[in-house]
Amino acid sequence: MLIAQISDCHIRSDESPFDQLVNSTETLERVVAHLMSSGIKPDVLLATGDLTESGTEEEYSLLLELLAPIDIPVLPIPGNHDEGQQFRQALTNYLPEKLPQTHCSYVEDSYPVRLIGLDTSLEGRHDGHFDDERFEWLEEQLHQSPDKPTVIFTHFPPFMSGIHFMDISGLKDPERFCSLVEKNPQVKLVTSGHLHRPITTMIGTSIASVCPSTSHQLGLDLNPASGSLVDEPPSYQLHRWDGIRFVTHTAVAWEGKTFDLSSWINKVAEQASSGSGFPKK
Ligand SMILES: [Fe+2]
Ligand SMILES: [Fe+2]
Repeated sequence: MLIAQISDCHIRSDESPFDQLVNSTETLERVVAHLMSSGIKPDVLLATGDLTESGTEEEYSLLLELLAPIDIPVLPIPGNHDEGQQFRQALTNYLPEKLPQTHCSYVEDSYPVRLIGLDTSLEGRHDGHFDDERFEWLEEQLHQSPDKPTVIFTHFPPFMSGIHFMDISGLKDPERFCSLVEKNPQVKLVTSGHLHRPITTMIGTSIASVCPSTSHQLGLDLNPASGSLVDEPPSYQLHRWDGIRFVTHTAVAWEGKTFDLSSWINKVAEQASSGSGFPKK
């Protein structure tokens, strides 16, 4: 199974100081075109929040136009820049009919891997909370299927990244989330957004990954007193499940040079089938 992920598109309909750095409409267009023309068709696309900058109707309308060329199922989860009610209304065609009243969390169980979308965003706030209600909801979903490989996709990373100003303004109670995942080894991947960089760690036996943004990235700055936004290229991820483990690839929507290796690849295949390995001479 192949799972694609986009995050933090920050689609804007009004002028913004960020326009000087990146045009988030143009970069999402590039990411969608790159994904759709890659020759690889993922089974599903996760969209892990901050899909718009301010959660307005106009922004969601533009977002839907930009996502229209995608011909695989899209599973969205809101982030702190989204607005809960607008998000549910605008993305209703992508969401299940039944959702909890106070958070937009759900389970998609029609694939070889179970996909659990967890919404920890809060109305009117930029920080998130894995509160009692969400804890009980997630515990119940995990309890229902303890043996099937599972992915949890969510906006806020449930760990300290070392990017200090984001860590102190992010998810409350990340340890509570981690202890629940540690008790559920069927969780093979916890993937999130919010940090606008590709980041990897572990929670128990699960990979924990952050998908970079389709728009601007955060500068890699581990000095607690500083931080920046940078125009590193728009990116997305592909999570490949082979029945045993996930392997995560970060794809960059970038018009770079290409050197075709097809003839070399044919020689490698011939050498591999000869059984003599790969001696230098
Ligand atoms: Fe974001
Ligand atoms: Fe965010």
